[in-house]
Amino acid sequence: PVVADLTGLQKKETQLKARLGLTNCLIVPGDSDVKQDVKRAMGKAANDLLQQHLPVGDSIVAVMGGTTMAAVAETLSSTLAEDRQLTFVPARGGMGESPDIQANTICARMAEATKGHFQALYLPELSSESTSTSLRHEPAIAKTLELIDHANVAIHCVGDAMAMARRRQMSDEVMATLVKRHAVGEAFGDFFDQDGQIVYRVPKLGLSISDLDRMDLVVAVAGGRSKAAAVEAYFKIPPAKTFLITDEGLADMILK
Ligand code: G3H
Repeated sequence: PVVADLTGLQKKETQLKARLGLTNCLIVPGDSDVKQDVKRAMGKAANDLLQQHLPVGDSIVAVMGGTTMAAVAETLSSTLAEDRQLTFVPARGGMGESPDIQANTICARMAEATKGHFQALYLPELSSESTSTSLRHEPAIAKTLELIDHANVAIHCVGDAMAMARRRQMSDEVMATLVKRHAVGEAFGDFFDQDGQIVYRVPKLGLSISDLDRMDLVVAVAGGRSKAAAVEAYFKIPPAKTFLITDEGLADMILK
């Protein structure tokens, strides 16, 4: 039965790649909406993928926050550091989330697990473009932003639009805008609709989706059937060579 299962998953990977226009994807069994361990299994898959594909030598790895990224951080292994020197930076600042799932915390954990370095980005959730423009020049912030600009690897999640807006306690006005513009998903603080059109941008400093093009390696880790619409829409945003790690719950929902 295990062999049969694996063949089934491989078939689904081929179908999901075709459906989303991906070069690479990996599906773990189960649905992370239903079972918490499935997030860890995706984390483990991410660790194996990094072991295979992270360039040897120095890398700057930009990472996002969230519960999925926290699971990735828990599973990173010190063998990643055998022939590499890794520096982790938060891909963007200001998430208004609880500390254990903030990108700063996740970077610190990843650095600890891989005997690497990390550089924090301490920023509140920004509410205007003018604040972000003036903060950009603060020396401690400018130093981290420079590192983000040189990141050659990104590991991130994709979120359901309304779930993310609620978790980050966005204003009623922004919530109404997201509903009106039919936002389905969110990544890097950009909210998009089912066609992959960006419909709302959180004022922010750090990485944007368009920056992924210049990276050596981009890994998206997102599972659970509740994120199917978000992930399907995200991959309509051109054109990154992202490696998707997901679970069967999400894959089945897209493929059904
Ligand atoms: O941008 C997406 C969110 O960070 C996803 O968070 O992993 O807790 O669902 P999550």
